[in-house]
Amino acid sequence: MRIVLLGPPGAGKGTQAKRLAYELELPHISTGDLLRQNVSDGTDLGKLAKSFMERGELVPDTLVTRMLEARIALGDVKNGFILDGYPRNLAQARDLDNILRSLSMEINIVFYLDTSTSVIIQRLTGRLVCKTCGANFHIKNMPPKNTLLCDNCGGKLYQRSDDNEDTIKTRLAVYQKEAASLMDYYKGKNKLVNLSADGNADAVLNKMLEYCSQGLSPKGTDPATR
Ligand code: AP5
Repeated sequence: MRIVLLGPPGAGKGTQAKRLAYELELPHISTGDLLRQNVSDGTDLGKLAKSFMERGELVPDTLVTRMLEARIALGDVKNGFILDGYPRNLAQARDLDNILRSLSMEINIVFYLDTSTSVIIQRLTGRLVCKTCGANFHIKNMPPKNTLLCDNCGGKLYQRSDDNEDTIKTRLAVYQKEAASLMDYYKGKNKLVNLSADGNADAVLNKMLEYCSQGLSPKGTDPATR
């Protein structure tokens, strides 16, 4: 099963991708995490990507797509994957289809996590991430037992450098510019499931699992009918 999570920054893509990956026993692929790893390792890609990420802009398509292609080639994806953070625009969506087609694969379902702006700002300004295992927490919504340390592995928690109000505004504007055409693309392929993601994380996860167990037909998934 190959699943894509779409949604604005702070919609909960990373949170839900980790949970889905656990439930479905599939790898979680996050282009944001892969890029941050490159930045922290000081690779050539990381050096190129850093300033785009700090400004909240998209890293150029060719760089991100090459990185994703290399990740998909690793071979642990034969039963599927949960993709979070890619595609970000129509060009990336088409590139993803081409990469998968060359492997005789295709995306099965695309979840759009619909989230309001006030919720996004609240979530991102309170997010804490583990430096060691990447687990996500939130100062109020999902507080760790100790605000400095990860509940899972004891690693140090930090605030992402792009989680400040100015950069969040740029990230949101970048997202809004590309979102409609991306959603139309997957709607046209009858793969898009629109879910409200303002609420409780468990409720959102359960809804996604319900769709996954229903044989993946997003037909009739207009949010008003669900
Ligand atoms: P990326 O890392 O992908 O960031 P993003 O898209 O801005 O999304 P976030 O990670 O901020 O949010 P999320 O939806 O995962 O929310 P989360 O689950 O953490 O990308 C970063 C940068 O890398 C981009 O700006 C760009 O420069 C570059 N990049 C990445 N991919 C690229 C691509 N394909 N092309 C070009 N450039 C690319 O949740 C947020 C917080 O809310 C957490 O604290 C969590 O605990 C809490 N929370 C989550 N769900 C709930 C809930 N239901 N209720 C209460 N709290 C919740």
